[in-house]
Amino acid sequence: MPFENLLLSTEDRISTITINRPRALNALDGRTLVELLLALGEIAGADNVRGIILTGAGDKAFVAGADIAEMSQLTPLQARAFAELGHRVCFALEEIDRPVVAAVNGFALGGGCELALACDFIYAAKNAKFGQPEVKLGIIPGFGGTQRLARRVGKAYAKELIFHGEPISADEALRVGLVNAVFEPAELLPKVREVMKGIAARGPLAVGQSKRAIHAGEGLPLAAACELERQTFAALFGSDDLHEGLKAFVEKRAPKFKGS
Ligand code: CAA
Repeated sequence: MPFENLLLSTEDRISTITINRPRALNALDGRTLVELLLALGEIAGADNVRGIILTGAGDKAFVAGADIAEMSQLTPLQARAFAELGHRVCFALEEIDRPVVAAVNGFALGGGCELALACDFIYAAKNAKFGQPEVKLGIIPGFGGTQRLARRVGKAYAKELIFHGEPISADEALRVGLVNAVFEPAELLPKVREVMKGIAARGPLAVGQSKRAIHAGEGLPLAAACELERQTFAALFGSDDLHEGLKAFVEKRAPKFKGS
């Protein structure tokens, strides 16, 4: 379907979702959030897609936050529905059984930082800036930032970022484990595509089920989480791909995975 605020393309079994509102530094308004949900639904139903890259249009911003102009008009009930929508997008990124990488090519502030945090991991351009500046507006993070940021970088560092509201550089984000790697701006997308192509060549069920096990195990005691891992491990022995992967190793050839 045609989107107003997103670009969606698929190449080499990798879908790229580009948030495309450069005039507002790709800020997330309600329409863009709904379009993100629709795009993720479309990709979830596409058998040929093995991974997703999420990025922002232009060279200045990934996403500069939730749309402040739109938020300024909201009643408390509407604000609740808006936060709900943002949360649904973040959960959809976590729940889709394909790896999602955020390619952060500039500002990732407020809802933009929260959106990146909901992706499986983040690669950033050297000029990227991360932050939760909501307190400067008299609000708090509304798309899961109080929870996912603390889980990624630890409670004390998350509190400093959220209470102070000042952004950090890509190198600092790398140091604290918020991002996995930093690249020169022109190298960011080629590097992300290279890694995603590598992931796309792996067993798609294995990649998807690893993601599910990691997320589902997060809220469980260790023993229960490890039991979940054992069940998932065993279930994969019923797949054609597992037998193809083991056989290809023995036959010293590249496996041909089908996703079944
Ligand atoms: N919402 C709506 N519009 C935004 C926006 C946002 N979050 N961020 C930037 N814009 C718009 C600006 O209003 C401006 O529009 P006009 O040209 O029509 O005036 C355009 O994008 C370009 O922005 P600037 O002129 O401000 O660009 P700059 O280079 O001088 O500054 C910036 C860049 C530091 C990112 C600055 O735009 C800024 O501080 N933006 C707001 C960042 C922010 O506070 N984000 C958090 C929002 S709250 C939130 O996200 C809540 C949540 O958790 C859900």
